[in-house]
Amino acid sequence: MNMQQTVPDPELLAAAKAAFANAYAPYSHFHVGAALHTPDGTLFSGANVENASYGLGRCAEQSAIQGMASSGGREFSQIVVYSESSPPASPCGACRQVLFEFSPEAQVTCVNHLGEVIGGQVKDFLPHGFRLEHGKG
Ligand code: THU
Repeated sequence: MNMQQTVPDPELLAAAKAAFANAYAPYSHFHVGAALHTPDGTLFSGANVENASYGLGRCAEQSAIQGMASSGGREFSQIVVYSESSPPASPCGACRQVLFEFSPEAQVTCVNHLGEVIGGQVKDFLPHGFRLEHGKG
């Protein structure tokens, strides 16, 4: 996979770090923050939110997408995922499909406290993502 190294947008990085600080992760103790921009520059962020019923936990990327879509957003241009692991946390398989639903061409930039970056387009992270033949109603 050709994962280009990209510089995270500073505003998205700051928002992802702020969300990271708000992560609710009492079970894994693994905090993740995510922030995205829609094409008009609106910012949505999210953190991982875990649950005592483990399977109900929600990843940071999905939290950010839920905020965007719930506000009427249907596209994003870049998502920054911030964690403090090395290498930086990269979206799980389920999150890749959730990102793919809205913007296969968007830039994904995973970054950590050391400045290490894993980057690429959503479609690089999820080749052959699933799509139904319907619009984005
Ligand atoms: N997690 C995310 O929020 N995003 C990722 O990219 C990787 C994993 C969360 C899920 C869970 O709350 C914790 O990190 C440990 O897996």
